[in-house]
Parts: sequence; C-alpha cells; structure tokens
Amino acid sequence: MNRPFERITVIGTGTLGAQIAMLSANAGYQVKTFDSREGAFSETMDKLGSDLRSRVDQPFIPWGRWEDCASKISHLTQLSEAIGDADLVVEAVPEDMELKRQVFRQISQHASPGAVIATNSSSIPVSRLEESSGRPERCLNIHFYMPLQGMNIADVMGGTKTQPEVLQAGISWVRTLGCVPLTVNKELLGFCFNRVWRAIKKETLSMWANGFVDFRDVDRAWMIFSNMNMGPFGLMDAIGLDVVYDIEMVYFGDSGDPSDQPPQALKDKLQRGELGVKAGKGFYTYPDPEYLNPEFLTP
Ligand SMILES: NC(=O)c1ccc[n+]([C@@H]2O[C@H](COP(=O)([O-])OP(=O)(O)OC[C@H]3O[C@@H](n4cnc5c(N)ncnc54)[C@H](O)[C@@H]3O)[C@@H](O)[C@H]2O)c1
Repeated sequence: MNRPFERITVIGTGTLGAQIAMLSANAGYQVKTFDSREGAFSETMDKLGSDLRSRVDQPFIPWGRWEDCASKISHLTQLSEAIGDADLVVEAVPEDMELKRQVFRQISQHASPGAVIATNSSSIPVSRLEESSGRPERCLNIHFYMPLQGMNIADVMGGTKTQPEVLQAGISWVRTLGCVPLTVNKELLGFCFNRVWRAIKKETLSMWANGFVDFRDVDRAWMIFSNMNMGPFGLMDAIGLDVVYDIEMVYFGDSGDPSDQPPQALKDKLQRGELGVKAGKGFYTYPDPEYLNPEFLTP
C-alpha cells in the first residue's frame, strides 16, 4: 500500500490525538507527540483503556499490541523537537478556532516546507485555518471518529488551495492506518459522515432537553435498531459533552439559526462538571454505565 509519509507528529494527545498516535504507531510510522499538558497521553490511554475494557472484547488495535504501540511513540516537551522532521503534522487540540489558528501558526514555524498539516477538527473546515499555516496548499481536514472503539472511518477534505496530491496523500495515509477514507469533493460543514451524526445529535439532544423523552429510551431504540452496543447519548458521553457542545456552537456560529444553539440543559451539565466518560459522569455514570447491563434492553 502506498505510504505517503514516514514521520507523523500529533499535537494534542487527548481523546482523539492519543488514538491517532496509536493508529500511526500500529501501522509502523515513526510517531512523535506534543501536548501542552504533561502526562496527557498516558492519562488519556488509561481512561480509554478502562472504558473500552467495559464494552468490547477486542479494540481496533488488539489489547496485546497496545503496550508495544504506546512504547514506540515519543512524547516531546518542546514543540520544535516534536515537529522538526515531520512529514505530516496532525493537530487534535480542543475545538476552538482561535486556538487552532494559533497552533497552525506554531506548526508552520517549526515544520519543514514540504510538511503537510492536517486538522482533526470535528466541525471547522480547514479553509478557516489554512491562512495561519502560511502554506494553505499543504493543509487539509482529516477527521477521525473513535478508531480504537472500531469506528475506522475518517473524513478527508481539502481547503481552498489544497493541492490534489496532498488530498490524495491524506487519503492514502488513512488507508494505511486501516481506516476507510470518506472523501469530501467540495467544502461541506460537517464533512461526510459527521454531518449525518450531527443531525442525530441535534435532534436527540433537543428531544431530551425539551422533556419529550427519556434519553435512555432513545439509546435503547438505537441499540436494538442498529445492533450497536451504545446509543447516541452513550456515544456523546464517550466523545465528551464539552466537545459535543463546542461542535454545536460552531454550527450555531455558522448559521445563526436559534434551532442550532445547543440546549441550556447541556450547558448546565458542563457547568456541573458532567463531561461524560472522562469525568466519570455525563448522561450515564462510569465506569459501569447502565446501558451495559443486559437488563437495559430487557422488555
Ligand atoms: N472526542 C471525540 O470523539 C472527537 C472525535 C473526532 C474529532 N474530535 C476533534 O479532535 C480535537 C480534539 O478533541 P479531543 O476530544 O481529543 O479533546 P481533548 O480535550 O480530549 O484533548 C485535547 C488535548 O489538547 C491539548 N492541548 C490544548 N491546547 C494545546 C496546545 N496549544 N498545544 C498542544 N496541546 C494542547 C490538551 O492538553 C488535551 O490533551 C477537537 O478538534 C475535536 O473536535 C474529537
């Protein structure tokens, strides 16, 4: 399989960045990371590991390979050292446009002129970040889902000036990680599948926040209907309710449509610190969420 890059750097090793680093190490790439918070990678992997152990027998990278993959990743404390020789730099810092622009600027200062810069943003098209990089023709969106949980898909989308070969390199890289690339031919807020998932989030959050239904019933129906081991609310907990909120705010900021504004009840959960799996509480309580109990789906 065509390997367009050899050295991968991931900036931000929270929920998604840590998984992208693991996927890259698993596929045999040389992987470096940088996170502004010391110990972020191991903290994230501990949480991901205990959450996954409670729900799947074998994650996308089998348990037996986890330690080996993790040990091959170098965690640097200086951004310049993390980026200097990278062929591809993927940023996975929080969903804040100004922060991402700042990170794009920093990456560009330290990266070689030929390096490609990708954002894992869930909702911000790279066209809104590309100028900060000073190399818009080498920037693109590569948006992963929860790969270790088995969601091995990634949206790939260019910006206004992305060279076709850069888009193609992104697509090839995704394939080499064992993920299925979902190519977006022209800019679309939400990319390919994430736009579908966003419609589900918007509708189900509104039904819950307005008191029409119990969120558990939505999840029960989804689990039976789709044969998945969690429903939309369980999945939002796994993603992080703060991340979900920030993404909804990007859609609202884009459209200005009041129906796109995330519900106050979601904001209230954030203010109570109920951020989902990573906080031990979101819609459900962890590490033993109620939906994993067989009785959850008993008639
Ligand atoms: N959580 C998900 O399921 C999910 C799925 C797909 C995409 N995403 C996207 O991935 C990105 C990251 O989301 P996440 O859920 O991993 O967030 P997270 O909060 O779990 O992790 C973000 C990490 O970035 C680090 N960070 C913050 N500022 C930094 C900086 N200036 N330089 C280096 N590191 C910095 C933080 O310390 C943290 O470890 C967001 O754009 C989000 O939309 C998230």
